[in-house]
Amino acid sequence: MTESAGPALKVGDRVEATTGAVAHGGHVIARVQAGPEPEDGTVVVFVRHALPGERVLIRVTDVSKRFLRGDAIEVLEASTDRVQAPCPLARPNGCGGCDFQHASLPAQRALKAAVVSEQLQRLAGLTREVEVQPVLVPGRADDGLRWRTRMQYVAMPGNAVGLRKNHSHDIVEVTDCVIASPDARVVLAGDPPARDFLSETVRDRSFDVASDGFWQVHPGAPEALVSTVLELLAPKAGERVFDLYAGVGLFSAFLAEAVGPTGTLFSVEGDRRASDFAKSNLADLRQAKVRPGRVDRVLAEMDTFADLVVLDPPREGAKKAVVAAIADLAPRAVAYVACDPAALARDLAYFAERGYQLSDLRAFDLFPMTNHVECVALLEKAGSDLR
Ligand SMILES: C[S@@+](CC[C@H](N)C(=O)[O-])C[C@H]1O[C@@H](n2cnc3c(N)ncnc32)[C@H](O)[C@@H]1O
Repeated sequence: MTESAGPALKVGDRVEATTGAVAHGGHVIARVQAGPEPEDGTVVVFVRHALPGERVLIRVTDVSKRFLRGDAIEVLEASTDRVQAPCPLARPNGCGGCDFQHASLPAQRALKAAVVSEQLQRLAGLTREVEVQPVLVPGRADDGLRWRTRMQYVAMPGNAVGLRKNHSHDIVEVTDCVIASPDARVVLAGDPPARDFLSETVRDRSFDVASDGFWQVHPGAPEALVSTVLELLAPKAGERVFDLYAGVGLFSAFLAEAVGPTGTLFSVEGDRRASDFAKSNLADLRQAKVRPGRVDRVLAEMDTFADLVVLDPPREGAKKAVVAAIADLAPRAVAYVACDPAALARDLAYFAERGYQLSDLRAFDLFPMTNHVECVALLEKAGSDLR
């Protein structure tokens, strides 16, 4: 069968299909007849609200030259992984915040694991089985609900608030977001936060962070990520470490403690307010040196070397030039904390070009009910002991 160059299907059309594999971004893939004639060929539809292997009725929501988007508006044959979504807004034309409420938690984690594996294979040529681990918070159920400690709503008429629909600027009113923690810090888009900064505690340390600045949104995330980075990098006293995209110094603090007063920790962060907070958060650690500025510029100005590097870039990843600059530091190991598996996989390919291979990969379900997943990758120079 031929692949269609331009589907005859249009927004609003309905078409039945059996869904295939999960795709990055919270969809599953279906292939449908592109038009009424056999010669119209088939076209790929990225379908929300479905699971792999289901028979569904799809309403087309978006048409591009090469593919379509659609919502499963009726499930004709359901997957055994399907459950009743806990939120009534987790439906076609509802809230765009959650992608996988209609899947059991183990199934959500399996879907995310499949996406990470597929991205590693496709973008970095790496074959790897991935397991997405739950992140448990003492005293809380592992039910994927009430975990989000920061929420940004859009103000609506009256005192109502809302969240955006998927791929849209339209807002849907939300009275009780089921993934928001009851004590979540709430910011209305466009409004200045009520307080300048908050204090967060991780282990025995306190971190001040701007109220609208970056801090992990899952309450178990700081501990899960810090302990993983420390385990994978195994820092030793006296070592020289870079924490890139360091925020207010979460990894910096514990890495600086680990290398001790004979070591050195450089904390590099581009947001001025975050690096000011990092300075005060790390003030008791003489070996910790905050370097404000863009990672590419700071590294270009420092003619130096590293034993270890941790990087935790924004969604778009570090990209080729920063990866090359990290490789030029010749670290014995790099821990890459990533919130987008596609950007991670692209950067892993750049690391491979510079002789650094993936030697361990952990994945965590820090965003239950959504399609998002956090990974920590360990990279080591080819030829060193691989795990
Ligand atoms: C995902 S956050 C990680 C923060 C920190 N590692 C943590 O866990 O709290 C990414 C950080 O990178 C910073 N950032 C983004 N682009 C940057 C760049 N080009 N150079 C330096 N920092 C950057 C952002 O301000 C943000 O603080």
